[in-house]
Order: sequence, then structure tokens, then C-alpha cells
Amino acid sequence: MDNKKIVLSGIRPTGQLHLGNYLGALSNFVKMQNEGKYDSYYFIADLHALTTNPDPKELHTNVRHILAEYLAAGLDPEKSTIFVQSDVPEVSEMYLLLNMHVGIGELMRTAAFKDKARKALGIAAPSQGDDDDDVAKEIIGASTNKRVNAGLLTYPTLMAVDILIQRADFVPVGKDQEQHLELTRRFARRFNSFYKTEYFNEPQNFNFGSAPVKVPGLDGSGKMGKSEGNCIYLVDDEKTIRKKVMRAVTDGGPTEPNQPMAEPVQNLFTILKLVGTPDKVEFFTQAYNNCSIRYGDLKKEIAEDIVAMTTPIRERIIDIENDSAYLHRVLEMGAERARARASKTLADVREIMGITKF
Ligand code: TRP
Repeated sequence: MDNKKIVLSGIRPTGQLHLGNYLGALSNFVKMQNEGKYDSYYFIADLHALTTNPDPKELHTNVRHILAEYLAAGLDPEKSTIFVQSDVPEVSEMYLLLNMHVGIGELMRTAAFKDKARKALGIAAPSQGDDDDDVAKEIIGASTNKRVNAGLLTYPTLMAVDILIQRADFVPVGKDQEQHLELTRRFARRFNSFYKTEYFNEPQNFNFGSAPVKVPGLDGSGKMGKSEGNCIYLVDDEKTIRKKVMRAVTDGGPTEPNQPMAEPVQNLFTILKLVGTPDKVEFFTQAYNNCSIRYGDLKKEIAEDIVAMTTPIRERIIDIENDSAYLHRVLEMGAERARARASKTLADVREIMGITKF
């Protein structure tokens, strides 16, 4: 039991989970948990959510949503450690300690930071080939009364601490988080070399043994995200799901046999592959290739398959969300386990850094 590798991942509570989150991440968390090969830690990164200054009530509600969604999808508090980041105060203390070894420059160069800083300052993204030190100049120049908060800058430190404080081996994250994971490894190496220790190992990304699943959106291009019309939430009811799928973007239909598919149509087939059976995929592919396809039928099939997949989850979400006593118990248990590991790491780190008792 104790020699199992540690898997850890977190999600920022900024809204409800959609089918992309479920198929791309959550369903794999559940599979891995049930395989029993790893010791898994899944948490809700509420401190990270604070970097964008959410409304307090909304933040609390979002934590509740995600927790209920984790549990409804099959994460089991007996098998996985499920917790809220802020329930582990050791994280905040180690964040302060680790920041002493993190450079402002390297933080300012991360893609996610530049993106968010530009948004906060209201400056446009540079066009390709342009240098992009506009962000740095604007931030220091403070020519406006807009500000980029320091929490946003040190977001990667906090994420590195989430990972390192649990001594995680594997961190399943999407492509957009790879740079943060790379920084985590760099901070771990730096800490080790500065203090001449081998304390931290270098956590790796984790693809569940297969290529990462990218769930396309319904609006014709890109992946499923939180924008309206593009995304199906786990809590969407049957009517909403059908309405959204029937409105998905397509094209005028194939006019020649075996015509290449336009992106919006390809996307629908990608979704069908994820939610439907192989014989349906085969059926509609043939219909496309011989130009007999009716997109309305394809969409109906997709909608029903999604409904079949999400309905049991949705019903559980609603039950669980209303059961405050249960949520409380789950988080109490999770916090206890997460803190046990974290406090051991923090005590070691304090000692390594020279903060020791007299
Ligand atoms: N930054 C991650 C995201 O936005 C969430 C996150 C916070 C996380 N801490 C983490 C993910 C630690 C994995 C491990 O998706």
C-alpha cells in the first residue's frame, strides 16, 4: 500500500464541469482509482481560483459543484484522497518558503501569466513574430490604475507546492498546464541543488496510457470550453442537451462520395466516437461517404448517447449537492489524509531550510 506511486491532480473551481472535463480528465481519474495501482489525490484548487478575485459566494458554490461532480462521477473518498486546497494550510506556508527560490522573471515569462496579465491590463496579444515584452513594461510602468495581482504571478509556485508537498509522482494535466509542470520540476531540482539534497523527485505528466482525449466543441472549431453553445455541462438536463446538440454547427452536406470532412463535421464524428458505439460510427461514416447522411439523424444519435452517459451522473450530482452532511464528512476525511502527508513534507522542508526549533 505504502509503496504505491502517488497520482495528484487539481481543478480550479471556476464553474461547472463539462463533457470535455469529464471525458478528458475525470473519467480517467475514476478508472485509475478503481484499478488500485496508484495512491490518488484529487483536490479543488480554491486558492488558485482566488487569483482572479471571484465573488465569495460564487467561489463557495463552485467548490460545492465540483466536489459533487467528482463524487457523482465515481471518485470514492474511501479509495482516493479528495480534498479542498485551502483545507491544507501547510500548502500556504510552503508556498511562502518555495517562493524564496523562484525568480520573478521566470514567472513573468510563463504563457498563462502573460495571457492573464494582458487581460487584466487590457492589452492585445502580440501578433506572431512580435516580441512580447509589452507585458513586463506595462506591469512595471503602471501607467494605468489597473494592476496584475502578485497571486497571479506566483500561481506556478502554488501549483508546484500542491504537487511537491504531496510528493506526487504523476500529475495528469492537459497541455495548457505542461509549462507549469515543467516549472515544478525546475523548482524541485533547484531546491535539491541549493540545499545539496535529493529530497524532491521530479513529477511527470500522465496520459492514462493512451493519447490525451480532446473533446471538440459544438460551435464548429476548437475544443469544448465554457462558452455558451459550445459546451455540454454534466448537469445539463436532457432537453438542454438535445437542444444544444441539434444546434451544433455543420455544413451543407457532402456532394461527392468520400469527400473530406469539414472541421465542424469532423468534430461531430469525434464526439460520436467518444460517446457512441463503433457500429454507429461505422454507419454514419458510410452514410457520409455515400452522401446519404442526414446531419439531423447524426445529431439525434449523439444527443441520445450523451444523455445516456450523463443522466445517471446528473442525478447523483443533484442528490450529493444537497447532502451537506455527506460533503462535510468527505472533506474532513480528505483534509486529514492530505494534511498528514503535507505536514510531514513541510516539517522536512523547514528543517532543510534551517527553520528549526531551539
Ligand atoms: N492550474 C491547474 C488548472 O488550471 C489546476 C491546478 C492547481 C493543478 N494545482 C494543481 C493541477 C496541481 C494539477 C496539480 O488546470
